[in-house]
Amino acid sequence: MQDEGRRNALRAALALSGACLLGAGRPLQAAPSSPLLAGPPAGAAIQRIAFGSCVHQARPQPIWDDVLAAKPELFVFLGDNIYGDTRDLAVLEREYARLAAQPGFQRLRASTPVLATWDDHDFGENDAGAEFPMKEPFRQAFLRFWGEPEGSPRWTRDGVYTSALFGPPGQRLQLILLDLRYNRTPISRQIAFPDDRVYERWVRRELAAGRAVPGPYARNPDPAATQLGERQWTWLHEQLRQPADLRLIGSSLQVLADFTGWEAWANYPRDQARLFEAIRQTGAQGVVFLSGDMHYGELSRLDVNVPYPLLDLTSSGLTEVWTIPVPNALRVGEAHAVENFGLVEIDWSQRRLRLSIRAVGGAERLVHEVSIDALAAASAWL
Ligand SMILES: [Fe+2]
Repeated sequence: MQDEGRRNALRAALALSGACLLGAGRPLQAAPSSPLLAGPPAGAAIQRIAFGSCVHQARPQPIWDDVLAAKPELFVFLGDNIYGDTRDLAVLEREYARLAAQPGFQRLRASTPVLATWDDHDFGENDAGAEFPMKEPFRQAFLRFWGEPEGSPRWTRDGVYTSALFGPPGQRLQLILLDLRYNRTPISRQIAFPDDRVYERWVRRELAAGRAVPGPYARNPDPAATQLGERQWTWLHEQLRQPADLRLIGSSLQVLADFTGWEAWANYPRDQARLFEAIRQTGAQGVVFLSGDMHYGELSRLDVNVPYPLLDLTSSGLTEVWTIPVPNALRVGEAHAVENFGLVEIDWSQRRLRLSIRAVGGAERLVHEVSIDALAAASAWL
């Protein structure tokens, strides 16, 4: 999540309680990270994928009981998987060990295949990008923790991006996990807020008037600004050309939301347009975005100037919650500020997709069903 310090200051100023507060911490304990379980057999159709983000290693994590009760065949971590926030590798590894020592996390790792990408806080620093000096040793620590097999091409990439294919033709699921940190050019701030006090005064006024409050960031109009970098763009085009019936693209930041003022693809409009164009050029059908970071869950939908209606299911956080309403012109229904995870259920026989956000305790807070065949371009686009 962006700018935790600013949010803490805001929270104090606004006398909000509960949201995002960090736990008092637990005694540090070393815990070896178990190797990644083998994924579902490549030949078997996969039907249930759970995902989530923003899990603080020092807080209680009751959500894992609900995740396991949903019986996912795969769990995807979309970043801020720990709050490292350090330039010290030993500190980062200590915080990973705290996550590994969480009983619920251990049950997940013992029972369910896991794939992960990162966001700023496990990359290393709040809202950091390509300039972060520890990005390569921290990238290797990430791959070690998540059990990346020796010899995997992922060890040699300029980021932690990866992909996997599951299931036979006709029921083939592609999972693509992007890296929005390793190559990202710095984010732009809105010039309307010369300092935090001005921003906070404006926030108080907007909230008093009952209006949603955007974050402090702006769109970056620089044509060279990028989140992915050229190697990852080339790789992504190659992935999108692979045959698949459904493609879940995991992005640590929201792909469609417009305009929250927090970190998002909307702040890199050329990158965002390039992503839609990549889907159009490659003829990749069946794309659905999964995202995290925001500390609430929601669904966004965009159906203009794109090859076909695009959906972005945001689940955040597994432990972190942000209760101040945030604008998003593409939101479908409500945002759900509660500890939550996302669930993707695929009915291959009916070619239906069911997307949901489930709150801690297991209750469904958002459900959206769509035909897989609706996630396809009209032939005029191809
Ligand atoms: Fe984040």
